[in-house]
Amino acid sequence: MARLLGAVRSASIVGPLIAIENAPGARPIYGRAPLRDQTTIAVGNERRGLSPRTLALAAETLEIPTQSRTVKTLNVAAAAAIAGWYVLHGSARQAQAARPELRRPSVFLMGRDHVEVGSSLRSAAALGFRDVLLDDRGAGWFEGSAAERREARAAARRHKNPLRIHRASADDFDRFEDVLLVLPSGSAKPLQRERLTHGRRQLIVVGSDSADLLRMAQGRVRTATLDLEPCEDPPLRLVASIVLAEIARQVGRRRRIPGKPAVRPPRYEAAVRLGAAGDVVFVDPSRLLEY
Ligand SMILES: C[S@@+](CC[C@H](N)C(=O)[O-])C[C@H]1O[C@@H](n2cnc3c(N)ncnc32)[C@H](O)[C@@H]1O
Repeated sequence: MARLLGAVRSASIVGPLIAIENAPGARPIYGRAPLRDQTTIAVGNERRGLSPRTLALAAETLEIPTQSRTVKTLNVAAAAAIAGWYVLHGSARQAQAARPELRRPSVFLMGRDHVEVGSSLRSAAALGFRDVLLDDRGAGWFEGSAAERREARAAARRHKNPLRIHRASADDFDRFEDVLLVLPSGSAKPLQRERLTHGRRQLIVVGSDSADLLRMAQGRVRTATLDLEPCEDPPLRLVASIVLAEIARQVGRRRRIPGKPAVRPPRYEAAVRLGAAGDVVFVDPSRLLEY
């Protein structure tokens, strides 16, 4: 990842330390000026996160705002890619909108590696997406071996990831009014200067290869770039996670209406009714194991 950003991996701290963690008091990675001086960013262990000692050493802690009740963290490499890209380039703040879901474009992922696809789907769920179109090009999400499918689903945190995944191919481009192909590097308009808020009729494509570019020459498909360092086969999870985070920044979070509670109380299909006195059994805690 460091190489893609033109940075270096380091075991020591150079310049101020920025901790990347969704810890209490962390500020969003959005809404910062581009980086001017040398800085070190630290990301944590996939299981344990950053240690309290590293958090205490940091000049600031930044978080990637997530919008899911069940998938609250990203894969560590995906988080490092997003954090590195925003710290380096800076950005405006995350938008606020009355109905963000109406602004969110469709997203189309193309991947060849099952774990890269799974990790990208984890990022999509964490960043508030409900649906993703997937052309897995042999990555095995739909038809891989049992082991591949298990690994891909573990990487996607599928047991708690409610994302709807739709099988798709480049032929589906024709169904959309505006198709934007995001390239990791190269000369095109920078992604952050594109408007990514046109709703479902807009399609953002990540992970395409040169065959799609050829096809694009005949059609009305546009390109944008992340301006990463050129690299032969950049991992899908890194590229896709940056793109998903930029869409989430532009689409925005729901604007809170003054006086309205932030979270709607859950609705149940049936209310719990008290049982009749004869149906109630009192159990001493010491006897619970018998039940
Ligand atoms: C999978 S996370 C560790 C999660 C930790 N076990 C927990 O449950 O909170 C691995 C690392 O990725 C980075 N990371 C993942 N999601 C993040 C987010 N939403 N904001 C900031 N950093 C994040 C952090 O550096 C974190 O230490």
